[in-house]
Parts: sequence; structure tokens; C-alpha cells
Amino acid sequence: MKKITILFSLKITALTALIMMAVACTSSDTSLKDAFSDHFLIGTAINGPQVHGVDPEARPFIIRHFNSITAENAMKWEKIHPDPDRFHFALADSIVDFGLQNDMFIVGHCLLWHSQTPDWVFQDSLGNPLTRDALLERMRDHILTVAGHYKGKVKGWDVVNEAVDEDGSLRKSKWLEIIGEDYIQKAFEFAYEADPDAELYYNDYNNELPQKQAGVVALVKDLQQKGVKIDGVGIQGHWHLDSPDLKVLDESISAYAALGMKVMITEMEVNVLPTPPEVYGADISQQAQYLETLNPYKGGLPDSVQKQLTRRYADLFGVLLKHRDAVTRVTFWGIHDGYSWKNNWPIYGRTNYPLLFDRGYQPKPAYFELIREAKK
Ligand code: XIL
Repeated sequence: MKKITILFSLKITALTALIMMAVACTSSDTSLKDAFSDHFLIGTAINGPQVHGVDPEARPFIIRHFNSITAENAMKWEKIHPDPDRFHFALADSIVDFGLQNDMFIVGHCLLWHSQTPDWVFQDSLGNPLTRDALLERMRDHILTVAGHYKGKVKGWDVVNEAVDEDGSLRKSKWLEIIGEDYIQKAFEFAYEADPDAELYYNDYNNELPQKQAGVVALVKDLQQKGVKIDGVGIQGHWHLDSPDLKVLDESISAYAALGMKVMITEMEVNVLPTPPEVYGADISQQAQYLETLNPYKGGLPDSVQKQLTRRYADLFGVLLKHRDAVTRVTFWGIHDGYSWKNNWPIYGRTNYPLLFDRGYQPKPAYFELIREAKK
């Protein structure tokens, strides 16, 4: 009897060990991009020092987990075209070369935006506001030069970023003020002229929310009616533990897909820190004051919040997987928690935990949960 019991418990122990090994293999041996390869591309935002090996762990890590990259800042107007007669391609080139060497889908971010665009763009040499024609000419030169430089290499462009306001109307930017409503159409036409084979996207935050979504739907329809090429809508996905509502996200993807748009989540992360009430989106010009109470997890993320984060990622991906026919890419805004802009926006100097990997490149419980979701 005793012998049988010992044999039995040995078997159980061996079985448990086998199961644990299997779990360990499927989870940590599976990369993010491989787990989702039947569903959509998995991207990340990267920067120059990562590609240049300043952080030696970054390159192999990016290659292992991601099959798409977006330059977090290097292609924005202020970086790539800092002065009227000077384009600075070196940094973005190294990011693009890295992507090409590793067979990645390279996203260009972004051709036209109201932020990270120097003031001179809207002024003549005396500092006076440009005329509509002069600004259109400057816009055309910028788009043709930048998108032309990466022709055939950058496969999809965020042509216009954040042009719609929370209420669905067009944002009162300098582009709108000086050129008028057709500036968006013109930007898409110039991008098409620069590289007819690149996919062209409209990208925004909060455009899953009903009012802004209605504005973006109207914008896409208008472009389509005018015969302008637009291939997709990017939902940035700067999300929180408790918002947006899953149903709202679900409906917005359906609404964009119904227009024939590819849908992508272009800048995903899930903020776990308290959000000041005056900050409602991801407008980078908003800044709030630092308070200790708004930085509660300096010493580490409590288990209870880690669990919430895991659940939230699983729920959000549940919706994205449901729409796998329309969703072509999910890009995370940063490779691990330490690199996230959410440590410094909208409040400088906090410790946030919004991504799937921790500051030591270790996968978090949310990562393992998503690998499981992908295989369902
Ligand atoms: C952010 C970058 O992550 C930061 O490094 C930079 O200081 C500000 O911009 N919406 C966008 C992104 O489209 O380009 C922004 O990226 C985040 C909000």
C-alpha cells in the first residue's frame, strides 16, 4: 500500500513538473510577434540609442518580440526638418535601416501634426504668418522630401496626426487656420504623390470615443468621396485601467472597418497612475503639477494593481482579437516600462508601469496572459 502511495505521488510530482515546464516553454519561449502572427503585426516605438546599442539589451529584444517599428520621435517635423533649409535624416535613417535588416514593417510617424512642429513652419523669414499658398508649398516640400526619402522603405505613413477635437470638429491648429479645411486632403495627396505604394493613415487619440469617432468617420468619408487614397485609421490607444469602455472600442473598430479602413492600435499602453481630471487624452502640450499622491508606486507595483493591469490587457486584446480581420497591427508605445513616455507625461518624473515588460526586460503577468489569449 505504502509502495503504491509513493509511486503515485512520484507520478504526480513528475506530472506537475511536466506541466510547469510546458507552461514555462509556451510562455517565455514564445515571442510576442510569433504568438500573434496569425492575427496582426506587433509593433513598438523605438529611439536612436536603442538601435545604436547604447542600451545593449534593446536591439536583440526588439528583434525577438516585434515585427513592426515606429520611430518614437525621429521622424517628427522638429527632428527631421529642424530648419527651413535643413533636413536631418541620420537618426531616422538608422532606425529605418535597423527595420529593413530585420524584415520589419516600418511605420512613418508622422508627416503632419500640430505638436513637435517648429514655429517657423507657419511663418515667413520676417516672422509674419504665411499665406495659404506659401504654407501649402512648404507642406508639399516637406512631405515629398520626407516620404520621398523613405519611398519603398516606410510601408505606412501616419499622414495626419490628431486633427480632430474631442467634439468631432476639426482641431483649431495653425494648419486649419492658415490653409483651411482642405489641408488634410492636400496632405494625403502629397503623401500619395511621394510614394503611391505606401499605406496612408489618419491617426488620433480618443478617436474610439463616440463624438471624436463621428468626426473621424466624417473625415474619412469626405476623403473617399473626393477620391483621395486613405488606407487606415490609427487609434493611438493611450489607455487606462478603467477607460475606454470595451464596448465603445468594439463599436469604433466596427465603424472604421465598415468604411473599408484597416484599423491599427498605434501607440498602445495602459496607464496605472492617477490621472489629473483636466487631462482627458494625449495632447502632449498638457502638463500637470507633480504631487507625491499622484506617484504612489515608486517602490514597485502592488500585486492588486498588477492583477488589474493583466485583466485590462486581456480584455482589450479580447476586443482586438475579435476584430482580427480589420485590425492589422498593434504597436506598443515603448519597449518596456522604463522607456514609456508615461513616466513623464502629463506629469514629469513619475514611475509608471504601462507596458508588457518591466524595467529589467522581464515579461509581466500581462504578457503571459496575452500569449494565452493569442493561442485561444
Ligand atoms: C510622444 C513621445 O513618446 C515623447 O517622447 C515626446 O516627448 C512627445 O511625444 N501622441 C503621438 C506621439 O502621436 O507622437 C506622442 O509621442 C504621444 C502622443
